Amino acid sequence: MGNFDKIVNLCKNRGIIFQGSDIYDGLANTWDYGPVGVELKNNIKRTWWKKFVQESANSFGVDADILMHPKVWEASGHVEGFNDPKIDCKNCKTRYGADHLIEDFSKDKVNADIMSFAEMEQYIAEHKVPCPKCGKSNWTNIKTFNMMFSTSRGLTDENQNLIYLRPETAQGEFVNFLNVQRSMRAKLPFGIAQIGKAFRNEVTPGNFTFRTIEFEQMEHQWFCKPEDSMNFYEEFKQKAVDYLVSIGFKRENLRYHDHDKLAFYAKAACDVYYNFPIGWKELNGVHHRGDWDLSRHQEFSGKSMIYTDPFTNEKYIPNVIEYSIGADRLTLAVLCEAYDEEKLPDGDTRVVLHFHPAIAPYKVAILPLQKNLGDKAREVYNALAKNFMVTYDDAGSIGKRYRRQDEIGTPMCITIDFDTLNDNTVTIRDRDTMEQIRLNINGLKDYISKKIEY
Ligand code: GAP
Repeated sequence: MGNFDKIVNLCKNRGIIFQGSDIYDGLANTWDYGPVGVELKNNIKRTWWKKFVQESANSFGVDADILMHPKVWEASGHVEGFNDPKIDCKNCKTRYGADHLIEDFSKDKVNADIMSFAEMEQYIAEHKVPCPKCGKSNWTNIKTFNMMFSTSRGLTDENQNLIYLRPETAQGEFVNFLNVQRSMRAKLPFGIAQIGKAFRNEVTPGNFTFRTIEFEQMEHQWFCKPEDSMNFYEEFKQKAVDYLVSIGFKRENLRYHDHDKLAFYAKAACDVYYNFPIGWKELNGVHHRGDWDLSRHQEFSGKSMIYTDPFTNEKYIPNVIEYSIGADRLTLAVLCEAYDEEKLPDGDTRVVLHFHPAIAPYKVAILPLQKNLGDKAREVYNALAKNFMVTYDDAGSIGKRYRRQDEIGTPMCITIDFDTLNDNTVTIRDRDTMEQIRLNINGLKDYISKKIEY
């Protein structure tokens, strides 16, 4: 079994990620976070917010609605152009994204993004690309499908209006540009960030949570003077990688990938790729969007997006540098980066998730050596739970309990023994080095806080 399959199994068995609607045999491309996974993803989102809002001078957060005025999606170009090339297997009737089919078949050696429909059809025919499900190579022509999910609003059937579930969070930032600028008295350059759900009617060949139909994005739009925009573009490329390294990624597992085909309005665009066990794949994007978004919203809403420089009185529509990363895709990458199988001196193997302590689901596990130490152990648990996510385990041998915590990446295990009752000290075992030290209970809060600092 390859590492990717082992990670998927670990996620299911250790309460990290489950198949969505599991008891109904699942709904394709949907996934639910379990008790351990929700902590992991929330912690990741917290580090992102800290880096890109809290510690980033002149950046402001928003939380816009998923449902937006239909004109937003006309202005953004999604109604007209957010299309995916789909192809059906005539034999088993399974539908695929033609681009993903080609990229997976070629093991990412071919970039289908830059191919026309005719070129994709030709490639599939020439290489007799088989259907991943039934193995036959018997395909329909390629058709386009708009990837936006739609729903309708209105009290009666006659009064229905088509509205869309947002396919990206970015538009919530663009439509609030004027509101944020005025209410926060913001001067250029400044940023607007948000974390929220996005929806895309993707047909994908699996790969767990890598590409799903409902996912969370963490997006940051930096509004700036056109002359300064290329410098900021380079700055955000750097910041994107620095952030990933700060939460535990090895630099050698990340690389830049310039877009082969730029959107007609874009001045530059670059992805950061991560070395997933399934190959090098996009983790985040940094896009120089020029003044496209604000100009289009000015045109469609009739509201002026012109910014007047308070020092020079210059007037212009700001340029935008966008940095966008999927919270779910990042969580998957974090799991892949942290996963390790370590050979131990006694010949045993332990599975361990080496999360950065700041994003580890539980910071500490409380393990009483014997059940009759439960009162003291509960006392320590209750005291620490006021400040940290703590878990408790009194079942099985201490070795087995350590292994269970290693598998969910708990950085510190605290054992309560009979000495604890006499001298108020406990043993703390470090997940990565497996070294143990003795510490007074009164010093635990400070010790843990330092260890999980971000
Ligand atoms: N506003 C720009 C934008 O949405 P994108 O490249 O389409 O750009 C940005 O998406 C990021 O969102 C990707 O780099 C990826 O991390 C994540 N993402 C996009 N589609 C996804 C999907 N179907 N499932 C999971 N994550 C996705």
